[in-house]
Amino acid sequence: SIVAVIYGGRSAEREVSLQSGTLVAEGLRSKGYQVAEIDLYGPNALLDPIVQLQSVEFDLAFIALHGGEGEDGSVQALLEMLGKPYTGSAPLACGFAMDKVLTKRFWKGIGIPTPAYLSFVGSADANVIEQAMSYPMIVKPSREGSTIGISKAMNRVELDEALVSALSYDSDILVEAFVDGPEFTVTIIDDVAFPAIGLKPAPEHKLYDFDAKYIAMDTEYLLPCGLSEDDENELQMLALDAYRSLGCSGWGRVDIMRDQDGVFWVLEVNTAPGMTSHSLVPMAAAYVGIDYAALVEKIAQSAWE
Ligand code: DAL
Ligand code: MG
Repeated sequence: SIVAVIYGGRSAEREVSLQSGTLVAEGLRSKGYQVAEIDLYGPNALLDPIVQLQSVEFDLAFIALHGGEGEDGSVQALLEMLGKPYTGSAPLACGFAMDKVLTKRFWKGIGIPTPAYLSFVGSADANVIEQAMSYPMIVKPSREGSTIGISKAMNRVELDEALVSALSYDSDILVEAFVDGPEFTVTIIDDVAFPAIGLKPAPEHKLYDFDAKYIAMDTEYLLPCGLSEDDENELQMLALDAYRSLGCSGWGRVDIMRDQDGVFWVLEVNTAPGMTSHSLVPMAAAYVGIDYAALVEKIAQSAWE
């Protein structure tokens, strides 16, 4: 069977996707699959994405796009219309998970713990924010990935800067209460939660940010994650609840913080997680004995079913 690995795209995460897609294609080939690589909006793409997808023969699409149309359900909807199976969640779940404001509003309603937040469209009033929340605060564009456009604000000057930065990526932004504690991430494939990874960016990083994710070699990844067995079980159950609540399927990764009192707070669900050499899903899989090639085959197979 022929697997189309779709990567690139025109979101701010294009470069990350190129890394993910190249490795995914390599992994699938090493498992004996015939692979067609599709670089959406790439420099050599003479065709628009719809024609591009239609001009290649394939039986299954492995979506290695991140952010934008690759993760918000658009490409997934296109594949639905073409009648092609694809990895990961359906359009609605993707769109839901991509929108942090919508997701948090929903989670608040159903009791999934997520940090307190304010949301804004188009502009934000720092006075209003300061009245409702205290520093530090995390300012985020609603629909971005890889920490792009996200800042931690310790004071008014930083808050003003953070708002401008977030608004340059999305008209919808949120200001979230900072959770003082370690971050964890839980990989889910086929409705099974993998062991959590604890993330410990080097002290000079205020956040597990883009640099800490893809460039710095000094981010510490804790695997096992350092929690007691009971706490890790609780974390995995919470990750599954959060993932299922949005209607996600196939595979994904849930990011969760733990505060000083040991309470978990879900940040978000990623429906097209990174698959680079620095990425977390391959790390969690390797820990349970699933190498990169076996992992991409497993994800591809989750789409066949
Ligand atoms: N958005 C990046 C690729 C991730 O979640 O891994
Ligand atoms: Mg994300």
